[in-house]
Amino acid sequence: MAKTHTVFVCQSCGVSQAKWLGRCPACQAWDSLVEEPAAPKTGKSRAPASDPLPLDHALAQPEPRLPSGLAELDRVLGGGLVPGMVVLVGGEPGIGKSTLMLQCAASLGRGGGRVLLVSAEESARQVGLRARRLGLSGQEVVLLAETALEPILAAFKPGEYAAVVVDSIQALRAEDLASAPGSVGQVRQCAAELAAVAKASGIALFLVGHVTKEGSLAGPRVLEHLVDTVLYFESEPSMRLRLLRAVKNRFGATDEVGVFEMGEAGLKPVPNPSALFLAHRPGQAPGSAVCAAMSGTRPLLVEVQALVSPSALAMPRRQALGVDPGRLHMLAAVLAIHSGLDLGGHDVFVNVAGGVRLAEPAADLAVAAAMASSLAGRPLPPEVVCFGEVGLAGELRAVGRSAARLSEAARQGFTQALTAPGADKAPVGMELMTARRLDAALEMLR
Ligand code: TYD
Ligand code: MG
Repeated sequence: MAKTHTVFVCQSCGVSQAKWLGRCPACQAWDSLVEEPAAPKTGKSRAPASDPLPLDHALAQPEPRLPSGLAELDRVLGGGLVPGMVVLVGGEPGIGKSTLMLQCAASLGRGGGRVLLVSAEESARQVGLRARRLGLSGQEVVLLAETALEPILAAFKPGEYAAVVVDSIQALRAEDLASAPGSVGQVRQCAAELAAVAKASGIALFLVGHVTKEGSLAGPRVLEHLVDTVLYFESEPSMRLRLLRAVKNRFGATDEVGVFEMGEAGLKPVPNPSALFLAHRPGQAPGSAVCAAMSGTRPLLVEVQALVSPSALAMPRRQALGVDPGRLHMLAAVLAIHSGLDLGGHDVFVNVAGGVRLAEPAADLAVAAAMASSLAGRPLPPEVVCFGEVGLAGELRAVGRSAARLSEAARQGFTQALTAPGADKAPVGMELMTARRLDAALEMLR
């Protein structure tokens, strides 16, 4: 087949060149030229893909959902698959993306939906071996070991499949482009064409993409705007825990986290992550506080650890893992001004156990309590959970979803909760303590 004409387009200024150059001659940006198919020379306008529609008509049709059967995956997707949705599953090599997709395909198959599994990296035999290891079988999962884009596009026939999985997008090759698989041009072209046929046929599409530690040049980042949902699969190195996070979702919330455990038989959902995150909590150690956090719609108890140690540096270190470094600095200042805890000569390290990220201000109280506890060398009472936002004036502010937080804490065996006034009633067996100010709250924890 004759190669279609391609051009190299600068991603910064849009100028196109006949051949690749290291530096754009127009805007001088380095390494910004990407191969793209040349625009068709014919001047005729293209027919619109769909007709204009009154908003009311669109509102009348709720999006039907097809549960994948993996509850933790459905949670991050926002309740299951939407026909024609395009999902990018990113993650470092070896994290378990192929395993997740194979389990998802088998589970969809058991639910009666046919799935096409395009394996562009592994042979059908390798996929089969993994399926055997995982104890999966299924007539409903169809394997296609293929790296060329065109035969994959041809497989999208409406009604033929419920979903198509492409593992991975970096291994696909579009005939039109001369550049190597995995290059920005190839990755984007393949993904764009696949997304278009998925939308047109109503078949859900999963694209697997590798992210490298360095931040992924030709990785899934270039695809984020092109897909409906971006899921990132991450792990905590010391644990077999895998966290599936939505960083973009046109069909649901982005703060949901799916929790899996990687074991001999593949990925196992973790329905009660709080227990797991608290499992390794040291009994009576200073600097450990339990926060009743929310992860999307799910309440999650996590351990916040702080280590405050005298510093020999002119500028003491502040290091935050799992919490926003800006909030750590703010809390250190509030502790100094309003609670008389001078951290100025101390290095402060804060870590959220289990690799969880606490993005909400509700974690402030636990972070502050952990720091105060470490500085004083005094453990916090082990039966207390805390949550609440700390303001710059040293005040404690109420946060949302307190009922859910309190009942999860009670379910995990905690008997006391400390937060700002205005929280919902605590469940039976749980004593609710409230404080208006951070210093009063820290006093109660003594
Ligand atoms: P894989 O799904 O191939 O990762 P990715 O597609 O993201 O590169 O998973 C590879 C890792 O998972 C590998 O290190 C082995 C491990 N693994 C298990 O621990 N248990 C299992 O049942 C399977 C299938 C894999
Ligand atoms: Mg893989």
